[in-house]
Amino acid sequence: VTVYLVGAGPGHPELITVRGAALLGRAEVVVHDRLIGRGLLDLAPAGAEVVDVGKLPGGPPSQDGINALLVEHGRRGREVVRLKGGDPFVFGRGGEEAEALSAAGVPFEVVPGVTSATAAPGAAGIPVTHRGLSTSVTVVTGRVGDPSSPGVDWEALARAGGTLVVLMGMSERARIASALLVAGRDPATPVAVVHWATTGDQRVVRTTLSDLPAVDLPSPSTIVIGEVAALDVGAGMPPG
Ligand SMILES: C[S@@+](CC[C@H](N)C(=O)[O-])C[C@H]1O[C@@H](n2cnc3c(N)ncnc32)[C@H](O)[C@@H]1O
Repeated sequence: VTVYLVGAGPGHPELITVRGAALLGRAEVVVHDRLIGRGLLDLAPAGAEVVDVGKLPGGPPSQDGINALLVEHGRRGREVVRLKGGDPFVFGRGGEEAEALSAAGVPFEVVPGVTSATAAPGAAGIPVTHRGLSTSVTVVTGRVGDPSSPGVDWEALARAGGTLVVLMGMSERARIASALLVAGRDPATPVAVVHWATTGDQRVVRTTLSDLPAVDLPSPSTIVIGEVAALDVGAGMPPG
């Protein structure tokens, strides 16, 4: 194996897997996104080539550009760690990178990560399922305007009930709240927004579905919608 698609976890440097940390510790090339927990890159060997694809000269490359970079380094037989926030296969475009490596005949392995979809609510003391309150959890993208993706059926999601976890949803929060309200979800439904979960910059705002548009937290933030969002069972983990 030459290329490892590694989940970095939600931000806390200790929330990478043991395998992910070991691979990072012997990487020759590290290719990472902007949203990587502080301190994680310190695990890479001093001589490793570190490429921040969020900050290449000329601006961030397209996904095709990143795929090509991974294929190029992989073909040279170097140990490449492609470090991605959370889990590589949860809205991380890890699937596209895996397909590109596979098509190019470059051996690779996927190392799962702790996804913010459960870790962000958890860090705020919110269990995404809870006996008597929620029997399902749906993880959905808030990038509703993305023409390359099939639309999100907010009406079906409103009808299904249960917990909704929205990633990348803050810029569209007003449209999301309105779509769910129009589809019949109760305006008093509890909502929590968790910003930079598990890090020293973590902030949590509790509100209701009708007041979600007023919450002004920057990216990265995760929106939790449903009865469980009113819970705080205590989280207890010191921030990283
Ligand atoms: C492109 S998605 C990547 C998700 C990632 N693959 C995962 O499994 O967590 C980025 C979105 O994840 C959420 N996110 C990532 N890290 C977060 C954190 N530490 N706290 C809250 N939300 C986070 C935010 O909604 C952000 O806009």
